[in-house]
Amino acid sequence: MQLLDGKKTAAEIKIEVAEEIKRLKSNGGKIPHLVAVLVGNNGASITYVDAKIAACKLVGMKSTIVRLNDTVTEKELLKKVDELNKDKDVDGFIVQLPLPKHINEKKVTEAIRPTKDVDGFHPSNIGKMMLNLPTFLPATPFGILQLIERYNIETNGKHCVVIGRSSIVGSPIANLMSRNSYPGNCTVTLTHSRTVNLAEITKTADILIVALGKPHFIKPEMVKDGVVIFDVGITRIADKSKKSGYKLYGDVDFEAVKDKASFITPVPGGVGPMTIVSLLKNTLLAAKDK
Ligand code: GUN
Repeated sequence: MQLLDGKKTAAEIKIEVAEEIKRLKSNGGKIPHLVAVLVGNNGASITYVDAKIAACKLVGMKSTIVRLNDTVTEKELLKKVDELNKDKDVDGFIVQLPLPKHINEKKVTEAIRPTKDVDGFHPSNIGKMMLNLPTFLPATPFGILQLIERYNIETNGKHCVVIGRSSIVGSPIANLMSRNSYPGNCTVTLTHSRTVNLAEITKTADILIVALGKPHFIKPEMVKDGVVIFDVGITRIADKSKKSGYKLYGDVDFEAVKDKASFITPVPGGVGPMTIVSLLKNTLLAAKDK
């Protein structure tokens, strides 16, 4: 088993991004600027946004958090999005999801100018991705692709099974793994909550991408020897022995499954850190494309 070390790979990519920003600066260019809009007090969202901002600081990228109360109206949030769309100093921005129930996430996502949509969630960017045109790839799928490349994992002709069909992870990664490119050229099976005999399908996977949100769902009897596993799940479970008060669980029972896998991502330290560097790379791209 070889560990797909997202933490180490992300650190290497951060050095590359930092060098690129230094080059931009020394050529008299503008420092890329990422804005993260955070609505309310969702603990996980605060942690994610803080991690994104810390990563910006580390690579010398300008970053701003816009914090809005969870009582903000949809109209007020759309006004903020419009301001950021028009702000010439802002190269890219994200609105951290989930949003409070009274706000329509789709409406907000669609209001973001596609050239600043560094999350790659806007329908026009998803459409470009589907057509294999240059665009911002959603951060988690982009992170998985970068891990595949950096570890030289063979994908050509492989059976890739994806669990979960979310528009942020499952659907885009299923599309990307089937593209006529590297990484890609897989035969892809996209499974979800209505799939019958899931274990029969996962047992045939050469590459298994799990984005389900059910802690330790994947057990050894559900995979074949030599499988490559990407575990996207991160669930917080209360644990008094931890300083944070919780422990993070992936969707894969790592300790039980690891010896059957040829490559596997841990949780934490696998796909998560790669997601953050993908956002940095998209913001750099947004700044350079201006
Ligand atoms: N919530 C969970 N993941 C993400 C992400 O990648 N971007 C945004 N904006 N919200 C999220």
